[in-house]
Amino acid sequence: MRSSIIPLTLLVGVLSLTACGGDKPADTAPAGSAPPANATTPTDSSAPVAAAGAASMQKGQEVYGRCIACHQQNGAGVPGAFPPLAGSEWITGPVARPIAIVLHGLQGELTVKGTTYNGMMLAYGTGVAMTDEEIAAVLTYVRSSFGNSASAVTVEEVAKVRASTAGRSTPLTQKDLEALP
Ligand code: HEC
Repeated sequence: MRSSIIPLTLLVGVLSLTACGGDKPADTAPAGSAPPANATTPTDSSAPVAAAGAASMQKGQEVYGRCIACHQQNGAGVPGAFPPLAGSEWITGPVARPIAIVLHGLQGELTVKGTTYNGMMLAYGTGVAMTDEEIAAVLTYVRSSFGNSASAVTVEEVAKVRASTAGRSTPLTQKDLEALP
């Protein structure tokens, strides 16, 4: 099936980019030494609590960099190869479904907005793993971007789905997704 080969090929590229594009060390100061009094700190502890949501959207946008190669900057996907996240019923529907997709990947026929795809998406729960925080942030971002307006995803919701699907070692199918609450 040709459509499964394209995503895998691209994924290899994405993975190798990820592998060499890891976090850069913030500075070269020796660990344990006190910062100079005039050092600029990356976080502002006086920021209001309300800013937490915004911070998570920003983080989500950063993490979305891992999805862009396939689902595109505007969430529209690539016709015939990668399904759209914009307006997708899988993104905006019950939250356990997009969480499980990111944790375990997907394979086989999947209908999105009336179009059937038959590709493969690898898991982010293992291997080049994403934390519960990263998954919550990226799904919060996707569920409220590209014209979507679904609720934010919490770290607790991700942890719950990770625990309840822990025995899974193969990508999900549409049938598996539909069985999720
Ligand atoms: C290497 C390409 C690739 C990357 C990277 C990728 N996906 Fe996917 N994704 C796919 C493919 C292919 C499918 C459809 C799988 C199928 O047909 O069974 C899919 C399906 C989906 C779906 C369900 C269908 C839809 O359009 O709503 C969601 C949700 C999703 N991906 C989210 C993500 C998120 C979030 C990321 C980043 C963390 C991501 N994907 C990264 C290729 C990719």
